[in-house]
Amino acid sequence: VRKLIVGNWKMNPNSLVEARRLFNSVAKAAKRFQNVDVVLCPPFPYLAALRPAPSALLGAQDVFWEEKGAFTGEISPRMLKSSEVSYVIIGHSERRRHLGETDEMINKKVLAALKNGLRVILCVGETLSEKRRGQTKAVLRRQLQHDLASLRLAALKPSALIIAYEPIWAIGTGVPETPFSANEASRFIRKATGRIISPKVAKNIRILYGGSTNSRNIFGYLIMPELSGALVGGASLDAKDFTRMLEIANLL
Ligand code: 13P
Repeated sequence: VRKLIVGNWKMNPNSLVEARRLFNSVAKAAKRFQNVDVVLCPPFPYLAALRPAPSALLGAQDVFWEEKGAFTGEISPRMLKSSEVSYVIIGHSERRRHLGETDEMINKKVLAALKNGLRVILCVGETLSEKRRGQTKAVLRRQLQHDLASLRLAALKPSALIIAYEPIWAIGTGVPETPFSANEASRFIRKATGRIISPKVAKNIRILYGGSTNSRNIFGYLIMPELSGALVGGASLDAKDFTRMLEIANLL
């Protein structure tokens, strides 16, 4: 399976000039890396101003589930498509936490995005206290059951769904989950997803690890059998470090 490295810029950088510079420098460097898929997810205003390159595709950080109408502030799947966006992150823990996104809302977003031909990067993961109480698997199972409800992926390609395992306590903390444990959680995610949609499809979906990854630690995740890439936050804002990550992924 080709590795997939996704840069989630979150609410950065502060200007379109900087966004253009970052995007162009990554897209240019990525031309050298033919064995890795690269997706960059800038904030909405920049997303509309950037054009995807063959070496760096565009992803959104969120999407709304309705097609159009009176939904102030929201962005539809078709609007994303018309801005040449091909991927969308759904259910990031920061949206669950700060914006009150529920699994029910996330499910509607997943269904709407897939229906419109966007590739979905669904984020799941446990909090530190859930981990400490030994609830990681139960939390992942519950999130997947709700987030993927009513999904008929059997008719879709496995490439349409990507799941990112992002333990919340590892995001932006500099304390990543170990590659071994991330692999274990991903194995569980694949099994649980198989039960919800179809084992055949789940076998071939890509699972990413996210949480304090950088060019110094990414190798350990990419060699894990259940992992096909990474969802990168902070390090994706540093063109040099992110390019190094792509270089490493390209070798595997
Ligand atoms: P960091 O890489 O900054 O920990 O963020 C991970 C993340 O949330 C990506 O979506």
